[in-house]
Amino acid sequence: MKRVFNFNAGPSPMPIEVLEEMKNDLTDFRGTGMGITEISHRSPVFQDMLDETKAYLRQMMKLDDDYEIVFMQGGGTMQFLMTGCNFLHTRGAYADTGVWAHKARNTAAFFGETYDANTAKDRNYAYIPDTYDIRPDTNYLYICANNTIYGTEYKDFPKVDVPLICDMSSDILSREIDFNQFDMIWAGIQKNLGAAGAAFAVIRKGLLEKARTDIPEYLQYQTFVKNDSTYNTPPVFCIYTLNRMLHWIWNMGGLKAIEERNKVKAGLIYDTIDQSGGFYKGHADVKDRSMMNVTFNLATPELEKDFVEKAKKNDFIGVKGHRLVGGLRISLYNAVTPEAAKALADFMKEYKRTNG
Ligand SMILES: Cc1ncc(COP(=O)(O)O)c(C=O)c1O
Repeated sequence: MKRVFNFNAGPSPMPIEVLEEMKNDLTDFRGTGMGITEISHRSPVFQDMLDETKAYLRQMMKLDDDYEIVFMQGGGTMQFLMTGCNFLHTRGAYADTGVWAHKARNTAAFFGETYDANTAKDRNYAYIPDTYDIRPDTNYLYICANNTIYGTEYKDFPKVDVPLICDMSSDILSREIDFNQFDMIWAGIQKNLGAAGAAFAVIRKGLLEKARTDIPEYLQYQTFVKNDSTYNTPPVFCIYTLNRMLHWIWNMGGLKAIEERNKVKAGLIYDTIDQSGGFYKGHADVKDRSMMNVTFNLATPELEKDFVEKAKKNDFIGVKGHRLVGGLRISLYNAVTPEAAKALADFMKEYKRTNG
């Protein structure tokens, strides 16, 4: 079996032990004689799995009873639409930390007025601004916890007088934080928690009560709450992969353990950058560096291209940066092993030795 060092920005690797377990579940899920893609979403075995998944989330996020949890198809982009059409009555504030927050703002603009509460555009989104301009009659402040493209991540979250909605797609359950400080968190699961095709949201009941009802039923979060995420056929396989990833994190020791592991991985790459004497230049300000996506440049685009090619020859896949930043981007999501990060750090040191 061939396995490479996969640093893709998402979809991204899953732990080998989880993949091995999935092989069996594809033919016989929990003794039903049916594979996970073959069971009915109205069956007790699916309901048990759904309940278990919610219980894992509730426990690991230490959510108080005030939150509902829902699972939806459509990935992240669908949530840009749903957050806007459910909660935008008059105006919505967006922290402009890059492409994903901006896309959410543009989508929500169909339903009301939207504005940037701040922006980091002046330095190509290399930092997280820490002031917020919230105008009167603002329905919520929307932020993106980890900016996948630029490699910046909030360490502390804004304290504002309006409901706080957060896209955690690229750092969900990668570290211990107080999840109860948000009114809504949503995340596409394909980076840290499973297979592409689904997102989940945790939403405060108080915010749900304020949701619009003059929109199609299927776009209302309340529809998913009232029907326990099975109004129509849910993404059964995706929810199953989420369930297995949560089980894997839980067995490892929960968020404390995964955070320790993620810190080690990011430390290996950032230390290599910082000790390279300027050969590798980090994009993000040190204080706002992401533990999930490490972004950096080399002296010229030619050298960067050469790095990507040589990396590929050595089985390091997915290291090319997004075109808006250029350079390199190393994604270190939950399932990436410390061994993979160490191997890449060693490769970076050797590349610098031969090309520096
Ligand atoms: C932080 C963040 N939000 C949203 C999205 C969009 O997700 P999707 O491709 O599932 O629509 C991405 C995609 O990479 C992302 O990184």
